[in-house]
Amino acid sequence: MARTALVTGGSRGIGAAISKALKAEGYNVAATYAGNDEAAAKFTAETGIATYKWNVADYEESAAGIAKVEAEIGPIDIVVANAGITRDAPFHKMTPEQWHQVIDTNLTGVFNTVHPVWPGMRERKFGRVIVISSINGQKGQFAQVNYAATKAGDLGIVKSLAQEGARAGITANAICPGYIATEMVMAIPEKVRDSIVAGIPAGRLGEPEEIARCVTFLASEDSGFINGSTISANGAQFFV
Ligand code: CAA
Repeated sequence: MARTALVTGGSRGIGAAISKALKAEGYNVAATYAGNDEAAAKFTAETGIATYKWNVADYEESAAGIAKVEAEIGPIDIVVANAGITRDAPFHKMTPEQWHQVIDTNLTGVFNTVHPVWPGMRERKFGRVIVISSINGQKGQFAQVNYAATKAGDLGIVKSLAQEGARAGITANAICPGYIATEMVMAIPEKVRDSIVAGIPAGRLGEPEEIARCVTFLASEDSGFINGSTISANGAQFFV
C-alpha cells in the first residue's frame, strides 16, 4: 500500500513542488496551508492533492489536523516540515513581534508537526522526517536574526531526532535550500536580490523542483542509512 506523506506549507512555493514530486513517486500526499484558501483550492483542482488548513504554530490545531489526515488518508510515514515565513528587519529595528512570529511558525511549527506523527512512526518502525531549513541557517543573513535562528535550530532538531529514531527505522534529515525562485525570494527588494544572485556561482536562483528532488531521495525506502544529515542545494553559494 502506498505510504502517506504530509507536507506543511505544501500548496505554494517549494512546498508545492515537494507535494507534486511525492505524488509523482506514488505516495498519498496531504498538503497543509495557513491562509490562502484560493491558492489551495486551485492547487487541489490542478493536482488532485488534498489540502488541509491549519496554523503550524498552534499545537492543538496541528494535532487535530494530523489526526484528520490520518483518518482520511492513512498513517503518516513521511513528514516534510516546510512551512515557513520571513519577517526580515535589521536587528536594531526587529520587533519582539517579528521575532516571535518567525520562531512560532518556523521552529515551534516543526515541533508541532513532527511530535504528533512521531509515536505512530515508532510503532510502525518506519518514518521519514524531512525538515526544510535554509542556507541562512548555515551562514546567517543580514536582517534575518529571527529566521536564521529558526533555520539553524532545524539542524539541531534533525540531529537529535536522528539519534532517537534510528533504532525505530525513522530517519530525520534537513535540506538547506539556497535562494530559490519563489514568492519569498521575489519579495526581496530587486536591487538586493540582484546582488544576492551575483554572489551565487551558479549565476541563477534555484528551482523549487531542485529541492523537491532532494526530498524524494530522502523519503525513499533506500535512504534508511542517511540520518541526521544536511543536504545543501545552493548553487555553490556557501559550503559548510
Ligand atoms: N549586507 C550588508 N548590509 C546590508 C545588507 C546586507 N546583506 N542588506 C542591506 N544592507 C544595508 C543597506 O545597504 C543599508 O545601508 P545604509 O543605511 O548604509 O544605506 C542598510 O543595510 C539598510 O538599512 P535600512 O534601514 O534601509 O533597512 P530596512 O529597514 O529598509 O530593511 C531589508 C531592508 C529588510 C534589510 C532589505 O534590504 C531586505 O529585505 N534584505 C534582504 C534580506 C534577505 O536576504 N532575506 C532573505 C529572504 S529569502 C529567504 O529567507 C529564503 C531563504 O531561506 C534563502
